[in-house]
Amino acid sequence: LPTMVPSCALLLLRLCALPSALAAAASDVLVLRDSDFDNSFVGEVSLTLLRCSLFLPLARCAHCQKFAPEYERAATRLKGTAILAKVDCSTSSKTCKRFGIKRYPTLKVFRNGKEFAIYDRSHSEEGIVHYMQKQTGPSSVVLHSKEDLDAFINHSDASVVGFFPNGSNTHLVEFQKAASTLRENYRFAHTVEPGLGLLHGLEAEGVLLFRPPRLSSIFEESVKKYTGPINTSTLRRFIKHNIFGICPHVTKENREKLKGRDLLTAYYDLDYVRDPKGSNYWRNRVLKVAVQFQSRGLSFAVANRREFERELEEDFGLDQLDGGGFPLVTIRTREGHKYSMREEFTPDGKALTRFLEDYFAGRLKRYLKSQPVPEYNKSLVQTVVAETFEEIVSDPEKDVLIQLYAPWCGHCKNLEPKYNELAEQLSGDPSIVIARMDATANDIPSGYDVDGFPTIYFVPARKKHKPVKYEVGIYLTQQSYFFGILYMP
Ligand SMILES: *[C@@H]1O[C@H](CO)[C@@H](O)[C@H](O)[C@H]1NC(C)=O
Ligand SMILES: *[C@@H]1O[C@H](CO)[C@@H](O)[C@H](O)[C@H]1NC(C)=O
Ligand SMILES: *[C@@H]1O[C@H](CO)[C@@H](O)[C@H](O)[C@H]1NC(C)=O
Ligand SMILES: *[C@@H]1O[C@H](CO)[C@@H](O)[C@H](O)[C@H]1NC(C)=O
Repeated sequence: LPTMVPSCALLLLRLCALPSALAAAASDVLVLRDSDFDNSFVGEVSLTLLRCSLFLPLARCAHCQKFAPEYERAATRLKGTAILAKVDCSTSSKTCKRFGIKRYPTLKVFRNGKEFAIYDRSHSEEGIVHYMQKQTGPSSVVLHSKEDLDAFINHSDASVVGFFPNGSNTHLVEFQKAASTLRENYRFAHTVEPGLGLLHGLEAEGVLLFRPPRLSSIFEESVKKYTGPINTSTLRRFIKHNIFGICPHVTKENREKLKGRDLLTAYYDLDYVRDPKGSNYWRNRVLKVAVQFQSRGLSFAVANRREFERELEEDFGLDQLDGGGFPLVTIRTREGHKYSMREEFTPDGKALTRFLEDYFAGRLKRYLKSQPVPEYNKSLVQTVVAETFEEIVSDPEKDVLIQLYAPWCGHCKNLEPKYNELAEQLSGDPSIVIARMDATANDIPSGYDVDGFPTIYFVPARKKHKPVKYEVGIYLTQQSYFFGILYMP
């Protein structure tokens, strides 16, 4: 029996390769080999790119091709602050084996020569520079004066500042501990200078969270106060709860932190570097409406439309012409339900208000990415699309086996004859449905995780809320009868 097939996407990554010619030009990326890996951590922090061999032409790996120059530029910008390095796994296999490198490129962060974290964020120059700058220096910056404080909080990200009395202070120690744990995500500073907290309404010791100045508005406080007991978990909770405010600027960097909410996002030509005023013009229009609805469990955000262009198109079917130059508005719920505002955004906020009223009244039609519903077809394997998923797969009377596949996935093609054969063998039983859906062209309902193709679920009759994923070992369960046939040699 074959084991569960690995993700096709992962296999593609394994083929990533770069020609050495790219590295030959003057470069600030340090090249590390097995022989010198352990002796080369000169700086406090270094980010090491471990990359694969050179046996495939560059054209085969679009991602590596795009990434290499970004990494070079990031290295140049970080010179003197952090070191970016790379290892070629084809010639330095010992190092790559030691660090368990399985796919390329893999990025790991080393602090003082020790592995500290896996870098799994944006593979862009900006993303890497931003992250590494945050990693260097102390986890909590010491502030000595009002000028220090003003300079620290004048930043594009929020700032967390602890105010403590001078002298040995266990609370300060706890604060620093928390800062070193949470530094990957937030910016910390502290001070023992008397009177600084008072400038922001803090009378005794405590922690203040300053939202980024560019996002300050009349609709909410730009400073939040915490005076409870300090440890990593209380501080983390306080920050998480307050860091975003009513309407944060969501980017590819911070979007993960906004997951798990019902989120409305307004997309427009937001650009806080070139046009802060224009960026806040629309944000304030959103905020004005948001404050009226914020108690109802929906979160709000603004974003740069260009940054999320692909997603708007693929997930919401919105293209460049939609919105007529005004903000585009979408809602994505934590269950993955999607809505988009079809009416044009009006500066008075009335269109947005109507959209929200319809949303809360359940009057909006969900947007479903779906292939057209196929004509009735007597073939034994049913073709399911997003629009018929509910009707066919969630039919309470039927035992359904649903295969989620991708058209480009070789494993899926190999499985096809077997899958058809299974459908044929079971075709006599009207209570059984064997089905498949192209998971790249249709939305997958929540409850169905897909982490590789094909992914197969058994959805038992009358237990539709409990789809069972095919996994090695499932033969031992009640479903053995399906999978046993499916994977018979
Ligand atoms: C904040 O920083 C910007 C540059 O990043 C500077 O132009 C501005 O004057 C600073 N504002 C304050 C209040 O220090
Ligand atoms: C804190 O206390 C130390 C030693 O007791 C002293 O040298 C320092 O000036 C004090 N700092 C402030 C800001 O009062
Ligand atoms: C942190 O402080 C809170 C409140 O005092 C307490 O309930 C919690 O157990 C503490 N957590 C740790 C890890 O010390
Ligand atoms: C039925 O579907 C199968 C597989 O999708 C396809 O090969 C076949 O041509 C279809 N038949 C009709 C009559 O549409």
